[in-house]
Amino acid sequence: MERTQIISWLTQKEATELNKLWTIADTVRRDNVGDEIHLRGLIEFSNICSRQCLYCGINAANSKIQRYQMSKDEIAECAQIAKELGYGTVVLQSGENRRLDVKFLAETVSEIKSKTGLAVTLSVGEWDADTYKLWKDAGADRFLLRFETSNDELYRKLHPDSKKGVEERFDTLRLLKNIGYEIGSGVMIGLPGQKYETLADDLLKFKELDLDMIGVGPYIPHQETRLGANIREFTLDGESQVPASEEMTYKVCALARILCPKTNIPATTALATINREQGRELGLCRGANIIMPNVTPVKYRQMYEIYPGKACIYETAQACNACITGRIESIGRTIGKGKGTSPKFAAKRGL
Ligand code: 5AD
Ligand code: FES
Repeated sequence: MERTQIISWLTQKEATELNKLWTIADTVRRDNVGDEIHLRGLIEFSNICSRQCLYCGINAANSKIQRYQMSKDEIAECAQIAKELGYGTVVLQSGENRRLDVKFLAETVSEIKSKTGLAVTLSVGEWDADTYKLWKDAGADRFLLRFETSNDELYRKLHPDSKKGVEERFDTLRLLKNIGYEIGSGVMIGLPGQKYETLADDLLKFKELDLDMIGVGPYIPHQETRLGANIREFTLDGESQVPASEEMTYKVCALARILCPKTNIPATTALATINREQGRELGLCRGANIIMPNVTPVKYRQMYEIYPGKACIYETAQACNACITGRIESIGRTIGKGKGTSPKFAAKRGL
């Protein structure tokens, strides 16, 4: 698909035309990744962060939140629960804590691998090659690192502590791929300052980076952040600003599916947050094939407030599992078995 066609879908307002887009995306999804929905147990193991990202509620400058770091045993216990619930993967996510004991994380990964055999995905930010290799050798399989926006000027505004801009993110993603990780990335939709052209470039970048996983969600303003507190100042005039809407999120899910047919695409928590009733189901019918149910202990969940009103703050792992199972059944899809390796990655490795 050409850039101009992507832009024309992104700006399309006619319901009948959009219905065509949803149908194409759903067909491409079924033909390429099937009807199974793979579940990934999300463990938000620490909210300690050294970075200053303007959009994120757990950024280092937010002194209003209490910081936590789960112990190895607590994390392993969550992984055990994920296994008992039948999930094939756990995702270990945290802020980018420069003082993180990288060996602690390696030991945690290796303990989870030996005790549960689950696939392990890391989502812990930017580190050097040796650290990424250490975790890979410990057994980590996949790595999630969103590039957030492909527009360098906007990227630098939103990440004042980034030295080399967005190219650094792209380099890091390529590095992770070379080390042997399945790689995932993504962007926020409706970031103040985001134009349709930028969003089209984001989508083309997904394809160019040859991603195994693509996670996209609406930007949700957080008052305790520089962006959330000064949103007007960052917002573009008139029609040029992409809205952080539910519909725009579906458009991006659908276009990502069409551009990258064999990629794993989650219906994200941010999408579920802006439409609690149906966000996940609609995402799954418009390109997505993955859900990441939260398995973090409830006592930590409200402290991992990257944006306000986040779905699943009070539910236990068991409650989220029951909720998600019901939602999947309601749309006539099935729960995937096994690790749910991206079909693209599996084909390349001869798996
Ligand atoms: N609204 C929506 N998504 C956010 N993220 C961070 N802050 C926000 C926000 N305010 C997303 C980023 C990050 C992921 C873990 O959460 O894309 O990569
Ligand atoms: Fe957590 Fe529905 S998935 S409550």
